[in-house]
Amino acid sequence: MIASQRLAVRKNMIDQPTCRRRFLKFLAASPLLAGTDVLAQEQRLPDPSVWGPRTLDKLITSPREAINVFDFEPVMHQNVPPAHFGYMATGIDDEVTLRANREGFLKFQLRPRRMIDVETLDLRMELFGQTYPSPIALAPTGSNRAFHEDGELAVARAARQGDHLQVLSTVATVSIEQAIEARGRPVWFQLYPTNKWEVAAGLARRAEKAGAQTIVVTADVLARQNWETFVRLRRTDTRNCGSCHGPGLASFVQRKPNFDGLDVSGISSTGATNLTWEFIKRLRDTVKTRLVLKGLITAEDAILAIDNGLDAIVVSNHGGRAEDSGRSTIDALPEIIEAVDGRIPVLVDSGFRRGTDIVKALALGARAVCIGRPYLWGLGAFGQPGVERVLDLLQQETRAAMMQLGAPSLKHLVPAMVRRAS
Ligand SMILES: Cc1cc2nc3c(=O)[nH]c(=O)nc-3n(C[C@H](O)[C@H](O)[C@H](O)COP(=O)(O)O)c2cc1C
Repeated sequence: MIASQRLAVRKNMIDQPTCRRRFLKFLAASPLLAGTDVLAQEQRLPDPSVWGPRTLDKLITSPREAINVFDFEPVMHQNVPPAHFGYMATGIDDEVTLRANREGFLKFQLRPRRMIDVETLDLRMELFGQTYPSPIALAPTGSNRAFHEDGELAVARAARQGDHLQVLSTVATVSIEQAIEARGRPVWFQLYPTNKWEVAAGLARRAEKAGAQTIVVTADVLARQNWETFVRLRRTDTRNCGSCHGPGLASFVQRKPNFDGLDVSGISSTGATNLTWEFIKRLRDTVKTRLVLKGLITAEDAILAIDNGLDAIVVSNHGGRAEDSGRSTIDALPEIIEAVDGRIPVLVDSGFRRGTDIVKALALGARAVCIGRPYLWGLGAFGQPGVERVLDLLQQETRAAMMQLGAPSLKHLVPAMVRRAS
């Protein structure tokens, strides 16, 4: 190309922003887009978070630096082996339920009331005759030593600090006796029944003997869990998993002290494919503890739970790890609260990350809100102080949300403070 030709080409070339502006002007003039304000949209101010984005190369270095619970997850990601992080983070299949749990909260708006004295706030929550200073509880999560060497003991000590209700998993890496000692107050025991009655009964009797006054039967783990994120991350883990994890279920339960002394031969899974209401009746005749059913997501099952003598239920989809129903728990909560009609306490978990999430559920009628992954982020990031800070942040946000709503105590959080966004 000769020099004069090159100049002509350059003259005709326009830079990208000019080109984009011209195109938008053209679009704005087009009858096709009459009535839509394309240029105004183009000039809209950016979301303020673009000026102070969360960056993954500047992680918090102490729990105090955290401004919300999300700050802990990338620190945990940095500290914990990929397979273990994947076990925590994973949903199931397309992770539709996992996302729905967060998006569900956007469907509900708060209706704050004004001119109410919120100088003194009372977050005390009463459950089965026990009072806790907070409605925020710790959901059962298995294998906590995969995230920090202190595992469930760190969680129990953090729960003790703020006197939070804690539910210990069947597949915890510490025994129910150790957890109760570390917590300094009875914890609830979560029961994976397995498909063998003798194992379920043995676990339940042991928990009762240890002092657990409430047993939470988990009803939502039936099929093999297709945890794709977990599998993908495990493939990136270069450590020799076999040096800790032996093959099969027998080796798995061997590392879970709650099974010590039980004959686990013949069990094929910790979940139970043969779980029916009959099991609840048998369990009633076996232990004197209160019985709670976890993993319900419909009004029909909530009514059956009452008919079958359950003392409380936990509305839960296992944090999006059980089935990809696409149903968030906050979406399911109103129909369940209506069906239960105050006859037994309703707890809820799955996707709770903010104080506003928590007050939405409480205002809709939940007695307490359990959290899972957020405290594991705190644990994996900083051990016990991380868990404490996560609980503290959620408590602070819940207090702030209550003040803004005009609710000086939990009983002032009423359904009229929440409306489903249209
Ligand atoms: C790593 C992990 C392990 C879990 N282990 C158990 C368990 O052993 N028993 C159980 O009933 N639920 C278990 N869950 C489900 C939680 O109890 C709870 O329902 C869920 O985490 C709440 O959702 P969230 O993580 O979004 O807060 C586990 C959840 C996670 C993330």
